[in-house]
Amino acid sequence: MASRGQFSSKLGFVMAAAGSAVGLGNIWGFPTQAAGNGGAAFVLMYLVMAFCLAYPALMAELVIGRYARANVVNALGAVSEKPIVHKLGMLAGGYGVLVASLILSFYAIVAGWMLSYMLGALADMGSLSAAKAWFTKGSLVRDLAFTATFMGLTVFVIAGGVEKGIERWSTRLMPMLIGLLVCLIIYVMTQPGAMEGLGVYLIPDFSKIFDAGLIIDAMGQAFFSLSLGVGTMLIYGSYLSHKESLPKLSGMVMAVDLSIAFLAGLLIIPAIFVAKHYGAEIYSESGTLIGGPDLIFQILPYLFDSMGGIGVVVAFAFFLLMSIAALTSSISMLEVPVALVVENGHMNRPKAALLLGFIILAISAAIVLNFELLFLNVIAFTTKFSQPLLGVVMCVFVGWLWHRGKLLQEIQQGHEHIENTLFWKIWPHYVKFVCPALILATFAQSL
Ligand code: TRP
Repeated sequence: MASRGQFSSKLGFVMAAAGSAVGLGNIWGFPTQAAGNGGAAFVLMYLVMAFCLAYPALMAELVIGRYARANVVNALGAVSEKPIVHKLGMLAGGYGVLVASLILSFYAIVAGWMLSYMLGALADMGSLSAAKAWFTKGSLVRDLAFTATFMGLTVFVIAGGVEKGIERWSTRLMPMLIGLLVCLIIYVMTQPGAMEGLGVYLIPDFSKIFDAGLIIDAMGQAFFSLSLGVGTMLIYGSYLSHKESLPKLSGMVMAVDLSIAFLAGLLIIPAIFVAKHYGAEIYSESGTLIGGPDLIFQILPYLFDSMGGIGVVVAFAFFLLMSIAALTSSISMLEVPVALVVENGHMNRPKAALLLGFIILAISAAIVLNFELLFLNVIAFTTKFSQPLLGVVMCVFVGWLWHRGKLLQEIQQGHEHIENTLFWKIWPHYVKFVCPALILATFAQSL
């Protein structure tokens, strides 16, 4: 078997893992959920969820991955030699691979919309109004074409391997993403109406903070945003050197993810209120702020159109930002099944990437063709149901089924004397008892 890839540096890993974490979930999901859930009250609950649930779960995934140095199926299988546990591990890993692939199948559709709106802005710059109309008006052909284009880009990066594909493109694209985001925020903040939006975002409505719906949304958002449960972080951990400290690197990844979600809120919510200033209707009939697709594909374009000449440039920058964020995330999803097929099916990487890209594209096509029936159901099944459930499974494997001494040995690598730190005093009990209980309790509420 070919030797496994590895990230060449700490920075390379952090860029790749943060690239996976930072995606449409941050730039689109987070701000709109915050807007619809009492502004800063949601932001606060999200922070609590991120630190209390997502960080320990992220650590758990990275630790198993680096220990086993294998894809999610073999890695969960390697936690114990007991035949039953071994089988259960492989089964759970297989479920993770399936869920990762399904997440990619809908994610690629949404990312395709971003690409087509980006080209729409370009067409606008060249005053090609018929082309612009085609790019920005939903049609089967357009959706299929751009989903395929986006999947092609994802396959291209993954075919390049860990260092020359994932790491290289993440370290190129992430700084671009941050630069674009900051420029857009500065521009939007100078526009009329932005300050009203800032208030809605940053002044908490505490009456909502213990709302069950808000807590569940915050947990789901935290799991989705940190790419947890399906083996994405596990596989990235498996490419990490034993010289690195896992608690520190996870902390860095989380810090980047939280910061970018927060920054995205500073862009999106003020932008909604600038659009309101220009006359857009930003509240739905029930009085809540418009979120979801209508926000991205109606309110924001309305705003770009009202800005005059610079509007097309801002629109292009915005959809480029979205496309970049989506690509550094989608590659991490495709890597999950690709690593499995490369390692267990003994297929070479480019071939495996292409084959799996095709299979997942076929699923995307099925979703596009049966949109009303499938789109939201696939999202709910994968992100609301499977991800938290698999998160519990990971915690159980690390907390209950793995030999404590082996776990310590693995974490000590890259972080000497960790047994004397607060981290080691808290975290193992935490993943054992608190995480599964909290996730399950939140989950039970949502059913
Ligand atoms: N975290 C990414 C986002 O916020 C999406 C993502 C990447 C993901 N890999 C994942 C979500 C694995 C769930 C599982 O957009």
